[in-house]
Amino acid sequence: MAHLAETPFVDWPAVRYAELIKLDRLAPRVHLVKLADASETRMVAKYASGDSAKGNIGKEINILGRQQLHPSILPVECIILDDNNCVIGMGTKFVPGGDLLRNKDRVFKLKWLQQLTETLDFLHFKQGIVHGDLHLGSLLIDEAADRLVLCDFSRAREATEMNLMEEFWSVMWTLYELVTLDFEAEEEQLQKSYAKYGIYSLDTESIEKLPSWPARTKLDCDAEILRSYMREWLKRRVETLQFVEPREPDPMTSFSRHGEHQCEEPTHGCQWGAKTTRLN
Ligand SMILES: Nc1ncnc2c1ncn2[C@@H]1O[C@H](COP(=O)(O)OP(=O)(O)O)[C@@H](O)[C@H]1O
Ligand SMILES: [Mg+2]
Repeated sequence: MAHLAETPFVDWPAVRYAELIKLDRLAPRVHLVKLADASETRMVAKYASGDSAKGNIGKEINILGRQQLHPSILPVECIILDDNNCVIGMGTKFVPGGDLLRNKDRVFKLKWLQQLTETLDFLHFKQGIVHGDLHLGSLLIDEAADRLVLCDFSRAREATEMNLMEEFWSVMWTLYELVTLDFEAEEEQLQKSYAKYGIYSLDTESIEKLPSWPARTKLDCDAEILRSYMREWLKRRVETLQFVEPREPDPMTSFSRHGEHQCEEPTHGCQWGAKTTRLN
């Protein structure tokens, strides 16, 4: 359990779990909430998990909380405390456009792909880390700002050559799935690589050699334009791997767990006096 006083977040805006009203469940441990006394103010609350396979929210708070990293990276708006002043989660601004899995009618723009690669350049070259979990569910669209926004940094890690190569493969697979809605090829690739080499590798050779990608999503340009943009970006990035300086993100592992059941029904009427924030 990380007591607030033992974390670097002592001076940060904070809200109590007991002050939050759950409006919707976006994923396990990830809820759309509002503050009990602020009718129109919504945010996304993400709670710590005891399951290390789900990544580390302490690391995520640390990465996102230090500063506004980038216009395509949501900063932490506040940390969430339990009644004992232990840090149990974080709040981010709600992006109503949702992720790329949720809204299949949206027309995907080349501009958003350019924003994605530019954000990855920023993370790799300036921060020395990889996102580590790129897929359609980690890419939100802020329609008001006309901007692609990255979420879920719980698996961010240092940008070693191997981790960068995996990130490049993930981004290519993500684009392939966005365009084609073919989610089976990735699973096939994993199984084939395991059968052949004994490892699960998301090498992109199988999709790169396809003569064309059938477009089953609405796009604002030809699918081949998106594909060749990505190919060019990858080529440039593979040639400049040596200019990345890897930096291990601080894990901050000792976080209080707030299990799914505890989060389902928040209680109200907190008597503790933590500094709170109002989110707009
Ligand atoms: N700020 C946000 N605005 C809108 N949707 C969000 C936001 N943060 C997360 N989500 C949604 O919640 C889902 C789960 O959040 P995520 O951070 O990926 O959690 P997990 O680590 O459990 O995968 C995302 O795939 C996205 O659809
Ligand atoms: Mg996720």
